[in-house]
Amino acid sequence: MKISILGVGYVGLVSGACFAELGWNVDSVDIDEEKIARLKLGDLPIFEPGLDEIVQRNVSNGRLKFGTDVASAVADADAVFIAVGTPPLEDGRADTTAVAAAAREIAPHLSGYTVVVIKSTVPVGTGTYVTRLIREVNPTAQVSVASNPEFLREGSAIRDFLQPERIVVGCVDTGAREVMRALYAPLELRDVPLILTDRATAELIKYSANSFLAAKVAFINEMADLCDSIGANVDDLARAIGLDSRIGPSFLKPGPGYGGSCFPKDTLALAAQAQEADCPVRIVEAVVASNAHHIRRLVGKIERDCAAGWGRMGYEDTTLWGKKLAVLGLAFKSNTDDIRYAASVVILPQLEKQGVRLQAYDPAAMDNAKEVMPGIDYRTSVEDVLEGADAALILTEWPQFHGISWATLKDRMASPVVVDLRNLYSPKDAADAGIAYYSLGRPDHAPSISKVVKLAGVAKDAAKAV
Ligand SMILES: NC(=O)c1ccc[n+]([C@@H]2O[C@H](COP(=O)([O-])OP(=O)(O)OC[C@H]3O[C@@H](n4cnc5c(N)ncnc54)[C@H](O)[C@@H]3O)[C@@H](O)[C@H]2O)c1
Repeated sequence: MKISILGVGYVGLVSGACFAELGWNVDSVDIDEEKIARLKLGDLPIFEPGLDEIVQRNVSNGRLKFGTDVASAVADADAVFIAVGTPPLEDGRADTTAVAAAAREIAPHLSGYTVVVIKSTVPVGTGTYVTRLIREVNPTAQVSVASNPEFLREGSAIRDFLQPERIVVGCVDTGAREVMRALYAPLELRDVPLILTDRATAELIKYSANSFLAAKVAFINEMADLCDSIGANVDDLARAIGLDSRIGPSFLKPGPGYGGSCFPKDTLALAAQAQEADCPVRIVEAVVASNAHHIRRLVGKIERDCAAGWGRMGYEDTTLWGKKLAVLGLAFKSNTDDIRYAASVVILPQLEKQGVRLQAYDPAAMDNAKEVMPGIDYRTSVEDVLEGADAALILTEWPQFHGISWATLKDRMASPVVVDLRNLYSPKDAADAGIAYYSLGRPDHAPSISKVVKLAGVAKDAAKAV
């Protein structure tokens, strides 16, 4: 089978490479000439573990091609995938301009029976809209538009695509159903459930799945805030409720709010479409408000925690102004370079405005971060970013940030104050090691000054005074 894919972003590039890995011939096209030029040189425009190898292998064996010419890519394709961006408009609705543009570009070049597959996350009704657009340009095209939403997660995208928990396909005729079944036959043979449904339902499934997951994240963050306020422990709470099989343990880890290119825009888009349909989804609306509130209040928490930590370390001035803050992590989650709607892009500019001197390190997302936050001092390693810092702020749960030794923190930092928005460490262990450590929804412990091996500057004097 021959497939063409419009859009070589996170979804289009991974899908194309994985379809080639399954044995299909794939022509991937993008309007971004620089991206295509880089891909032709074997240089991937995104960071995704394992992707490099699959792209290389399938380019070498001739099954995967990159280009900018839609006409030749589409001409003899059995299926043409649209995998372009659908960012939020100001009112929360999904902007489907790029999907419409892709449909218009494809239309004149379709020949023979072709299934146009919308892989982008789009509002219900987009399949019908795309069919109309194609027919306007090419009234005689033998085309059927299908919906095949993508559930891959950045950071584990290859596994998610090749070993998905389910595949969702929405079609309006048997011809399209047969083509889609054939395309995914290699995965169906491996017992991956294929949900074949109508187009509107497939479109809605993606939004409802993401909104449900976002609700779990918002819920546990609210519980963490409540634990902070009334002195309970969110880790124990999450474990206990997660062991209930009706709830399940995943997505019950408190953090700096959900971000990334999907949850924020998909919850907004579902709420907006439901409002338009005069059938508001109040739970999803509450999730959006809760997440925004959680992220906003984190700036105040960072300010309070730093002040408390600096107080413990003997600083006279415990305000943020002029202090050096080491930021560990910029990406919206680990194993990706994506900073779209990440907590870092909301929180860090506000700290900058309060006079904080920010130094940051992220294993993959620094190039992207430099474009939107040029004022930050970007460092090259964990040790480097901690150097001379008055406090450290953990924003992303990268594995590299899990096992930083207490000695490294104390040796490198001006004062060992840590605000951990991913709950990576034990508050008691940190306190025993002499670290002023603050996390989400867990009682903090006062650091044991007697066990502090090395406290720098003012903090050392304070320790002597005790
Ligand atoms: N990123 C994810 O983890 C993820 C997961 C599931 C679903 N999705 C959905 O998939 C869609 C794509 O997301 P993404 O993160 O891959 O976006 P992206 O921004 O990384 O990539 C989109 C690509 O489309 C290209 N493009 C735009 N117009 C084009 C056109 N007319 N012809 C050819 N190429 C064109 C852009 O240049 C860009 O390279 C979105 O609807 C998103 O919601 C994303």
